[in-house]
Amino acid sequence: MKKILFAASEGLPFVKTGGLADVVGSLPQELSAIGFDVSVIIPLYLKTARTQHHTLTKIATYPVIVGSLNTVATLYSRLVGDVTYYLIEHAGYFEREGYYGYPDDGERFSFLQHAILRAIEEKHISADVLHCHDWHTGFLPLLCKTVYLHRIPQPLTLYTIHNLAFQGNFPYGLLESCIGVSNQMYFDGTLRFHEGMVSFMKAGILYADAVTTVSETYAHEILTSDFGEHMEDVLRMRKKDLYGIVNGIDVKSWNPTVDTALAKSFDTRTVEKGKAANKAAIQAELGLRQDPGVMLVAMVSRLTPQKGIQILMETMHEIMGWDMQLIILGTGDNWTENELRQIEYRYPRRAVFYCGYHEELAHRIYAGADMLLMPSAFEPCGISQLIAMHYGTLPLVRETGGLKDTVEPYNEFTTKGTGFTFTNFNREDFKHILKYALDTYYRNPENWKKLVKQAMKKDVSWSKSAKEYAKLIERKTK
Ligand code: ADP
Ligand code: GLC
Repeated sequence: MKKILFAASEGLPFVKTGGLADVVGSLPQELSAIGFDVSVIIPLYLKTARTQHHTLTKIATYPVIVGSLNTVATLYSRLVGDVTYYLIEHAGYFEREGYYGYPDDGERFSFLQHAILRAIEEKHISADVLHCHDWHTGFLPLLCKTVYLHRIPQPLTLYTIHNLAFQGNFPYGLLESCIGVSNQMYFDGTLRFHEGMVSFMKAGILYADAVTTVSETYAHEILTSDFGEHMEDVLRMRKKDLYGIVNGIDVKSWNPTVDTALAKSFDTRTVEKGKAANKAAIQAELGLRQDPGVMLVAMVSRLTPQKGIQILMETMHEIMGWDMQLIILGTGDNWTENELRQIEYRYPRRAVFYCGYHEELAHRIYAGADMLLMPSAFEPCGISQLIAMHYGTLPLVRETGGLKDTVEPYNEFTTKGTGFTFTNFNREDFKHILKYALDTYYRNPENWKKLVKQAMKKDVSWSKSAKEYAKLIERKTK
């Protein structure tokens, strides 16, 4: 049985800040179901340690050399379903309140990668395939082929780009001080990315045996200067090894028929009553006016320019003049959060902003809302629209990346579709499609109901995409 090791900076059920954790928590289970022996390795952060340390088994403490630094790592594990999760403990690097955004992130995630390869060298873990995710693990393929070349059995390396906007760019001195390769790789241009800097993301793209990203459309988009984040030339060099495989969701934990967070569970047959009960419950919970008939629109998201939050803020006054209620759940920079706090005073009992990260509340919002907004400027895949459809909440999305690949636009003549879409990233087009969705909701409720059922029936599981990963692994192993 082929062994796959996922290496990432976050993954459920231990730590989540976004969709990467959903993927790292669910794709391994599906790959294991189709015959792979899968494990996952991530850091053991302080917040995880506080709540889950007692559930972990200690494997070993072993020395790790991070470029010119000598330190130690402690490895823990726990079986989740059929997948073994390994967690790497290090007081200095990971026992902090947050996860990312520290000045020494380059060193912290260099350590993570050395600790992973040392765990393989020490034979605590073995891997035929090393599946690396995002910039935090971007140096692994290169490290396998250089520093660890004669020290570990060489795995096939896959590198998955979840978001090209986060690249892990650091001063080039890190190559010698933390990675353990020559600074020459900066001077000859190989790893240089902007003056004075090297990029973890670039290393991953150049040295992995295959590069994937999380939707077909994004795989094409990133080859252009509009979406390439200055990495398009590097990506073009790997074009024949670049694949787009769309994400799925864990349909066991995201399942409206058994979801214990909900006021009432439901399936496609009971969706009307189920959603009505969940709408009433979420209106009561968040202090919105009890109104079964009003269209309830929601956003569950990081509140950043990627997610199109500025389009929503710029049109807020106009759209709140229409007959709808609005729930926003998320966090952003101080300015955005402060602006959004105003909506509760401006539109009392019609709009609410819950500032924070709240997993259970997210479940209840997906279940109670009629529509989910994702007017993203770019979206590698997007997990929220998949969850929304599965919970009978129609997504309103911009046609980009995975949003384009997963949401079928409503066609009022054929009544096909699973949501509403618009093409150009601007206020007018956003308002126009939102108005059209509202009109459909109020004037054509039969079609709306049909769309809800179609959305719920759409296959958003991993079954198809896991097979595509399997095929890719097979092709690259030959
Ligand atoms: P991204 O990874 O770019 O943030 P995705 O749509 O891929 O976007 O994934 C976001 C994931 O994080 C979804 O599972 C969504 O439900 C969840 N999420 C985002 N913000 C919050 C929040 N404030 N509270 C709870 N869950 C959230
Ligand atoms: C990133 C992307 C998002 C994607 C997620 C999981 O965070 O922004 O679009 O769904 O990764 O792949």
